[in-house]
Amino acid sequence: MPWLKRFCHYAAFVVPLIAVSACVVERVPPRGSAALQVVPDPAAVRRGEYLAHAANCTACHTAASPGAAPFAGGGKVPTPFGVYYGSNITPDVATGIGAWSDDDFLRALRHGVSPSGGDYFPVFPFTSFTLMTDRDVLDLRAYLSTVRPISQANRPHDAAFPYNSRALLGLWRALYFRPGPLVPDPAGSPEWNRGRYLAEAVAHCGECHTPRDLLGGRDETRHFAGYQMSGPDGFAAPNISGDPVHGIGAWSPADIAGFLQTGIKPDGDVVGSRMGEVIEGTSHLNATDRTAVATYLKSLPATH
Ligand code: HEC
Ligand code: HEC
Repeated sequence: MPWLKRFCHYAAFVVPLIAVSACVVERVPPRGSAALQVVPDPAAVRRGEYLAHAANCTACHTAASPGAAPFAGGGKVPTPFGVYYGSNITPDVATGIGAWSDDDFLRALRHGVSPSGGDYFPVFPFTSFTLMTDRDVLDLRAYLSTVRPISQANRPHDAAFPYNSRALLGLWRALYFRPGPLVPDPAGSPEWNRGRYLAEAVAHCGECHTPRDLLGGRDETRHFAGYQMSGPDGFAAPNISGDPVHGIGAWSPADIAGFLQTGIKPDGDVVGSRMGEVIEGTSHLNATDRTAVATYLKSLPATH
């Protein structure tokens, strides 16, 4: 029966092909469709908005020009290695992240990898966001899916070689990237652990206050010991370890909690520079969370 033979040949070829493509389709889900159709849970949106304030996503993802649309990209992020611009993270499908799946978003924030598999520059503090829980990251995603979609192309970064090369980021990651999440320390109280989570993962204090080496990796042996950033947009993020002279060892927990709300230091000075933007975010923290951050900071050893 030649037709049966032909059919069997055909089936032997086609069936595995279908099976293989089914596997491929399953492993790489079509981007975004599910995420777009689901109306996000209002409680998740509220939690996500709270975290977005604490993490200050707006500062880097919104242009400085008056009336610039929030999260539409173009926020300038000066570093000693060049000037980078935050991307459009509104739900616009073509220029924002509207077509992303939840997994795409988790990979970006927790692993610093784009949907197409490229590495992000660590100026995007995924190096701290990796410490967040999946649930918190998905809450951020839920919130961002409710902001107004804006069509605006991403602004190219302005950095010279090698700091403009994504190809070299694999090496950087191998040297410095330690994936999270942050594991709660059973020796610390729930309040201390909450403060640690907010400071290290969400509000990423160490991204500015921990010194960096020549390749831009944080020197964790001098955690929170301050970082003097050179260049035209340079700033000095002071020592915020427990050092009584150079750090904030002399500040009381109430001083720190009040500072995170108002930006006013114990000596009456108002903080400026990039810390002003940070306070803009931390001023939205509730009193319990501000106190938790203070408790955590007060527990840190003095580092010169
Ligand atoms: C210190 C500045 C800074 C902060 C704070 C920041 N980002 Fe970004 N983000 C960037 C930069 C710069 C890029 C572009 C990185 C690149 O091109 O490799 C980026 C990229 C991204 C991307 C990838 C966008 C794309 O189109 O590929 C997402 C998603 C993102 N950020 C979300 C967030 C969220 C959510 C927050 C708050 C939890 C946040 N970012 C906070 C600077 C920042
Ligand atoms: C985007 C960079 C950046 C981030 C993130 C950041 N800071 Fe700062 N911080 C600064 C800069 C810059 C200054 C100095 C501001 C000035 O000189 O007015 C500063 C100042 C301070 C001061 C005042 C110290 C003193 O002795 O005057 C404290 C306290 C502080 N930051 C705590 C924090 C905490 C806590 C976090 C995390 C919740 C944080 N910062 C996150 C950049 C940052």
